[in-house]
Amino acid sequence: MIGEHDVLVIGGGCAGMRAAIEAHDTGADVAIVSKLHPTRSHSGAAEGGINAALGNAKEDSPEIHAYDTVKGSDFIGDQDAIEAFTADAPGDIIQLEHWGAVFSRRDDGKLAQRPFGAAGSPRTVYAADITGHVLIQVLYEQLVKRDIKVYEEFFAWQLVVNDGRCQGVVCWDLLNGGLKTIGGKTVVMATGGAGRQYRVTTNAYACTGDGMAMALHAGLPLKDMEFMQFHPTTLYPSGVLLTEGCRGEGAYLINSEGERFMKHYAPNALELASRDVVSRSEQTEIDEGRGVNGSVFLDMRHLGAERIIDRLPGSRELSMTFAGVDPIYDPVPVRPGAHYHMGGISTDNDGATELTGLYAAGECACVSIHGANRLGGNSLMETITFGRRAGHSAAEWALSNTTIDVPESVERDAERRLRALLDRTSGERPWKIREELGSSMLENFAVFRQEDKMLRQREIVLELRERYKNVYVEDKGDVFNSDLTQAIELGNMLDTALCMIEGGIWRKESRGAHSRPNDYPKRDDENFMVHTITRWQDDGVELTTAPVRVTKWEPEERKY
Ligand code: FUM
Repeated sequence: MIGEHDVLVIGGGCAGMRAAIEAHDTGADVAIVSKLHPTRSHSGAAEGGINAALGNAKEDSPEIHAYDTVKGSDFIGDQDAIEAFTADAPGDIIQLEHWGAVFSRRDDGKLAQRPFGAAGSPRTVYAADITGHVLIQVLYEQLVKRDIKVYEEFFAWQLVVNDGRCQGVVCWDLLNGGLKTIGGKTVVMATGGAGRQYRVTTNAYACTGDGMAMALHAGLPLKDMEFMQFHPTTLYPSGVLLTEGCRGEGAYLINSEGERFMKHYAPNALELASRDVVSRSEQTEIDEGRGVNGSVFLDMRHLGAERIIDRLPGSRELSMTFAGVDPIYDPVPVRPGAHYHMGGISTDNDGATELTGLYAAGECACVSIHGANRLGGNSLMETITFGRRAGHSAAEWALSNTTIDVPESVERDAERRLRALLDRTSGERPWKIREELGSSMLENFAVFRQEDKMLRQREIVLELRERYKNVYVEDKGDVFNSDLTQAIELGNMLDTALCMIEGGIWRKESRGAHSRPNDYPKRDDENFMVHTITRWQDDGVELTTAPVRVTKWEPEERKY
């Protein structure tokens, strides 16, 4: 073991850093393990903002925020979790501001708030359109101030479970090579999502579901995995995110005929309907022949150069760099792209999982506040609020329990698995399987779903898993062996994809991001207002269900 800590946080993005800060301030000795330097984490790609009911632009309250979130979730977000979230959010924002987050302000000095999709009030606090980037800098400063240790460029691979509790993690040391074990009285998983399962995604290359897979393989349940959010405005062809903030500032969506088509799908909210609604509308336009190259257009020209440069400088730069279009002069080609997993490791409202000593927060977790469809701006807020809550409860538990015991067999077993992979001298290269996974998920498990396509996708993933058993790592070296880590990441993506598909096949209704227009076009609260729970059993997925917690909002028809 190369280190022992009260609390070990896996993942260096916003959720991980916020958890570490809180655990430290609760009195614990904390360290972070991250495959990237924290300021390079995918949280930095979050653009448009972070939601809290400050009411600076229009009357608002945690209660209204909670209702919008419940409705956005298509009524399977857990309402007690949502209420806790929206009540904590304003205080968490003020704290970030006190730590130095340079949020955009109004002329009267108050924090500016812009409208985001499906929100009853302009609620999204922002720093131009680089909000995530600003937050990771601020949180990293707070880590440095507290001298919190970061095991940088350590690839977490396998949880240490002993005596019925989680006590650390076995990692591959990316810089020097070799397996290294780090002990933790408690472990907080904050490893983000797995958008790289799809060929078109806003997610960084690092988003490969490592934490979800580690938990799954340790016997933990993943919840609501079928709900994959497609963000309506990802750049064609790269999939890079163009923030919802563009529409919040007034940008239109138009089709190949120049028509502002959202009036046909969401006559009131138009471009600011919820993401599932806007993505489906775009896909319908594209499928019915009113797209161009599989895209529609985001038109910002009427906003004028001054507003675009002031509020959306990052979006302009991304459009110019990745699509060759300056939005001041031309509409930008966009299409739905895989963006966010609503599902993840099942936790309670303080991040605790079913395994003593293991907590989870951020996108890898499912508390669940997003249900079947997340509202834009709620995920950055979730990283902060639930990162804080998980860090606090992990520290409290660690401080009242004293031992870390990592049996030799854990390291031996990990070493044996690693050798099996590295010693193979022939077989199939990981990139090929990864490419087929990405293309087939996009083809068969995207904005619209069909029974036959989902069944086909299950066959594809099962076949890819068979081929994966023979995957061949060409680089046998120790230093930055990305061939090795990409092979491991591929295994993580395949197993978590199988959970998603099993959930999708089981859910015979349309709800939020899970839309089956051909066979089950309607929501079916009687039979399916439940969470799916998937566990790894006999090298496959076992599916059960769990009830949704309702406090005060009964399901109603969802219109925007
Ligand atoms: O569009 C965006 O800026 C993304 C925000 C989010 O996913 O919350």
